[in-house]
Amino acid sequence: MSEARKILVTSALPYANGSIHLGHMLEYIQTDMWVRFQKLRGNQCIYVCADDAHGSAIMLRAEKEGISAEQLIANVQAEHTADFADFGVNFDNYHSTHSDENRELSAAIYLKLRDAGHIATRSVTQYYDPEKGMFLADRFIKGTCPKCASEDQYGDNCEKCGATYEPTELKNPRSAISGAVPELRDSKHFFFKLPDFEAMLKSWTRGGALQDAVANKIAEWLDSGLQEWDISRDAPYFGFEIPDEPGKYFYVWLDAPIGYMASFKNLCGKRPELDFDAFWGKDSTAELYHFIGKDIVNFHALFWPAMLEGAGLRKPTAVAVHGYLTVNGQKMSKSRGTFIKARTYLDHLNPEYLRYYYAAKLGRGVDDLDLNLEDFVQKVNSDLVGKVVNIASRCAGFIHKGNAGVLVAENAAPELTDAFIGAAPSIAEAYEARDFARAMREIMGLADRANAWIADKAPWSLNKQDGKQDEVQAICALGINLFRQLVIFLKPVLPKLAADAEAFLNVAPLTWNDHQHLLANHQLKPFSALLSRIEPVKIDAMIEASKEDLAASEAGPTPLESAPRGNGELSKEPLAAEINFDTFAAVDLRIALIEKAEFVEGADKLLRLTLDIGDAKRNVFSGIKSAYPDPSQLEGRLTLYVANLAARKMKFGVSEGMVLAAGPGGDEIYLLSPDSGAKPGQRVK
Ligand code: MSP
Ligand code: ZN
Repeated sequence: MSEARKILVTSALPYANGSIHLGHMLEYIQTDMWVRFQKLRGNQCIYVCADDAHGSAIMLRAEKEGISAEQLIANVQAEHTADFADFGVNFDNYHSTHSDENRELSAAIYLKLRDAGHIATRSVTQYYDPEKGMFLADRFIKGTCPKCASEDQYGDNCEKCGATYEPTELKNPRSAISGAVPELRDSKHFFFKLPDFEAMLKSWTRGGALQDAVANKIAEWLDSGLQEWDISRDAPYFGFEIPDEPGKYFYVWLDAPIGYMASFKNLCGKRPELDFDAFWGKDSTAELYHFIGKDIVNFHALFWPAMLEGAGLRKPTAVAVHGYLTVNGQKMSKSRGTFIKARTYLDHLNPEYLRYYYAAKLGRGVDDLDLNLEDFVQKVNSDLVGKVVNIASRCAGFIHKGNAGVLVAENAAPELTDAFIGAAPSIAEAYEARDFARAMREIMGLADRANAWIADKAPWSLNKQDGKQDEVQAICALGINLFRQLVIFLKPVLPKLAADAEAFLNVAPLTWNDHQHLLANHQLKPFSALLSRIEPVKIDAMIEASKEDLAASEAGPTPLESAPRGNGELSKEPLAAEINFDTFAAVDLRIALIEKAEFVEGADKLLRLTLDIGDAKRNVFSGIKSAYPDPSQLEGRLTLYVANLAARKMKFGVSEGMVLAAGPGGDEIYLLSPDSGAKPGQRVK
């Protein structure tokens, strides 16, 4: 192997005001697997993270709980670090952005930027809560949507109709903190002059640091012009005061990425062989990787490299962006029990199952990743238990019974071990490129070959024949050696399985290059089951417990538990005849945005709807007028639409498909809507 690389790796710093859930875990598991791979290869790889402890949300939550912000972030950090450790996420250091190192580095970087002329100041007008005595971030203002008149919407967007707007456009605004009517006030703000870095960003974002899809998205932002970035907040705020500016604080996103450096600096204090400047200085030859979710790309691929450049520091080698986690094809949902906390998962299932499933599905792209729970059970049971562990459990018994647990030296199929060795560079390349899915496919392909070979040799039959003992031993010794090679390839993903396998194999911790030689004349330890199958009841229990988490965290009944209205009975409509899944799947249901809803001249039941279905518009006549006497109230609303229904020619024009509603009719017609977040054109499955 060429000279060991020096690599510093980070995952995004989780907010210190909430629990870690399986969406977060997609990121930390992915990063951990990549780091473990680098370490297994003999590179110097350092993985740092921290809690992101600043901001008004944390300040307000601490107040609500009647504790100090410091106490809140300490409690949350203890919870986070336990969750990560139990999922096998092995940080070299886990720190906090509310630390001395971060205070010093944030001040130093800010002063560099200021002295180089990259900081501007100007007055900003914002809503202010006179009762609470603080300026209100958009999400702390509630009011009536200016577009669809839905009440109780946030200051920047409407969850009902999806409109985005300025807080000042909201009707009847209220402070979500005190309920007071907010007033507009001016205050001096500090801005980071991002446009100063346009040329650098144009070349850096095209220089191989980003996936193509991310670089393209950023090119759109760059083309539409960069804005100066507001980096200050007024007291009261939980964060760092800006040097020389009493009462002004750094916005949490200014000091958060500096938290990566601060965590590393803190580690340097514990490990003197690490040199801070060798990793962060302008001429650093170390590699620097940030793993993040797609929602925080602007901070990491625009603001952060610009800050580093402006402060005379090195820029990231790459920013690795992943998509969002969905569960069973949908956004995680508290009422469905699919908003699963890391701890709830750990209470029911082995973390390595999830690590493997994420690996098997994670490619290089930024697409969302679906945790389909049926597929999860099936894939883990068939790949890990049925293919990998099965090899060892099939062979170990014969070796212990027939040869006192000693592997014989004979290689019964050199072509097979050569094939395994030959596959290693391509598997390593896939890991290096973060194409974990390809790595897993190639490894499982090898496992299939090993199982097929053993099945063909059938040591269990030979063992019953006289004089075949040597052959049985040779077959099983090779089986164990193939298993050992697979364990090496899987070690970044399955550290616990690897450690248990090392104990059974009676070997020192395996490294990547160990796959190139085989064990011969080697004593094994007794074999005990390395991994058991996932029992589907455990999944059900985890979902139920996730619903309980919700019940515990919310006062009052959830909508599902609240008493039914009317006579409390379900509709008396008899069930239609049973259909199979394919019949259901033949209906192409889509999310549609009602752009226009209008009366149809001469029709007393119909409305004409103009639907936006993502990449096209549709005209639909719908018999819902009696329930929506003011059709404009439907405009801007999302609904469900049958996209592949044959068009129907009506007296008033052609109706292209239909929208879905429930209810007996008259004024009791209820148009269906997806959860907020759904986008026009998405398929309903
Ligand atoms: N505190 C900021 C990051 C600061 S980094 C200098 C933050 N915190 S977070 O807790 O909201 O998210 C932490 C990471 O988890 C982010 O990379 C985010 O994209 C990721 N995820 C949060 N929810 C997720 C899913 N549902 N799915 C996949 N990743 C998710 O953002
Ligand atoms: Zn609205």
